[in-house]
Amino acid sequence: MRENASGGTDAFIRFNRGSFVILSIQRVKFTAFADLHHHPGVFYSSPEKRLDRILERAGEEKVDFMIHLGDFCHTPEKYVDFVHRYDRSGIPAYHMLGNHECDECPVEAVKRIYNIPPCGYYHFDCNNFRMIVLDPNYYCLDGRYIHYELKNYYSYGGRLPYLPPEQIAYLRETVLGSPYPCILFSHQSFERAVHGVKNRGEVLKIVRESQRTPGRVVLCINGHHHVDYLRFVDGVPFLDLNSTTHFWCAESHRLFPEAVYREARLAGNTVIYDEPVHAVITLQSDGLIEIAGMSGSMMFGVTPEMFGAPRVDPDGREITADCSSVRLRLEPFAANRRKVRAAAAVSSSALSPA
Ligand SMILES: [Fe+2]
Repeated sequence: MRENASGGTDAFIRFNRGSFVILSIQRVKFTAFADLHHHPGVFYSSPEKRLDRILERAGEEKVDFMIHLGDFCHTPEKYVDFVHRYDRSGIPAYHMLGNHECDECPVEAVKRIYNIPPCGYYHFDCNNFRMIVLDPNYYCLDGRYIHYELKNYYSYGGRLPYLPPEQIAYLRETVLGSPYPCILFSHQSFERAVHGVKNRGEVLKIVRESQRTPGRVVLCINGHHHVDYLRFVDGVPFLDLNSTTHFWCAESHRLFPEAVYREARLAGNTVIYDEPVHAVITLQSDGLIEIAGMSGSMMFGVTPEMFGAPRVDPDGREITADCSSVRLRLEPFAANRRKVRAAAAVSSSALSPA
């Protein structure tokens, strides 16, 4: 095996008479992180240090690109230098909107700073994989879908989040028309029962439909919920990616050193991760999915149980400072399925006695 120019792997299969065939296994490797919550004076998170650790590992791992799953920065308009720290590391860096990005500045300004198209959603292809970035930061009022902006959604808790009809249509077209296996990215979850996207059934229907060609959608990743969880729906892995930084609790505490509360006014409603939790994810067209996460602990040893907060979230998912590492071997993905099967047939015939 050797690495090829597109980042994939060439597997050599030898024929009986000494000739070789080259089977190219496509591979994409990327850094994913969520909910860094750069919010000076509010959260205690040392966001620059966390981001630098993520960038450093991305460089060491030679990833093809990095992507954050939203809530990277509150008020990006005010902290453009922090956004540039991510954008200008030399590794392609992609953004998406979280629910808090537009709390204190207009959504159009955030899209401009993040280099997100005006519609808020987009896709790109990398090493024969298709990345689809969606924006479910909408609430629904009298049949209209309104984007989160300047905290307008705060009083509509029961009517959000939604993926509006035009994005449902876009998703269908982009997945079903894709020549490559697809990975779906969103801030909020498409599989959670309690706080997932309200019309997630429409998304799951497209994912199910896409699986008529197995391996058409190979992974869905979301942030927002600040826990570490992996679940299969219709044979597709859905990764609930933990926050890079903390878990928010409705209950408050005074268990950190006093200086923390002086520096960050909402620190008392959080348990903070001591490591910058994130994942380096590798997918190969032969069906391999590897999530290389990281384990950490709670800063100052403060856990939710210590101040009477639940140790699980509303969907019953445990609150930890981890992103679990997982290695999955699925069926070969759609785009290369025929090629892999053909090669397997060649391989077995090549091994049979002459
Ligand atoms: Fe969020």
